[in-house]
Amino acid sequence: MKQIVFAMTILYATLLSADIERGKKVYEANCAQCHSIRMTGGLGRDFNLVSYTRTKEEIVDYIESPDRQYRKFGYNANAMPTLPLTGDEMDDVADFIDSLQPFKKWMVKKGS
Ligand code: HEC
Repeated sequence: MKQIVFAMTILYATLLSADIERGKKVYEANCAQCHSIRMTGGLGRDFNLVSYTRTKEEIVDYIESPDRQYRKFGYNANAMPTLPLTGDEMDDVADFIDSLQPFKKWMVKKGS
């Protein structure tokens, strides 16, 4: 039993890291012109901040339809285009953003 749990954990970690790698490529091709990952600024928020403050589900929601989500996310206007990504690409880029701040799991988020 222990071996099975161990094997599943390794498998899950391997699959997740493949998603993160693919998500990084999606990021570089579609998001990097507006969102930095080294706090260098840009039109949209740096993804390190997004990693701390948003869940993966929220990130996917935003990519799917920024024009419908922007008020809920606290913006007065929407400058982010709706990008023609597949569902898998959205999931992968959300995994990549989520992976930028691995220690956040140990922090208590406001309101949780
Ligand atoms: C043309 C510039 C541009 C591109 C390209 C772009 N964004 Fe954005 N993004 C913005 C701007 C500007 C905002 C602020 C809200 C708005 O204007 O809709 C934003 C907001 C967001 C938010 C909400 C941030 C928050 O926590 O409040 C997320 C999540 C996001 N973008 C993800 C992405 C992802 C993922 C990609 C690539 C697949 C991407 N964006 C591509 C400009 C861009």
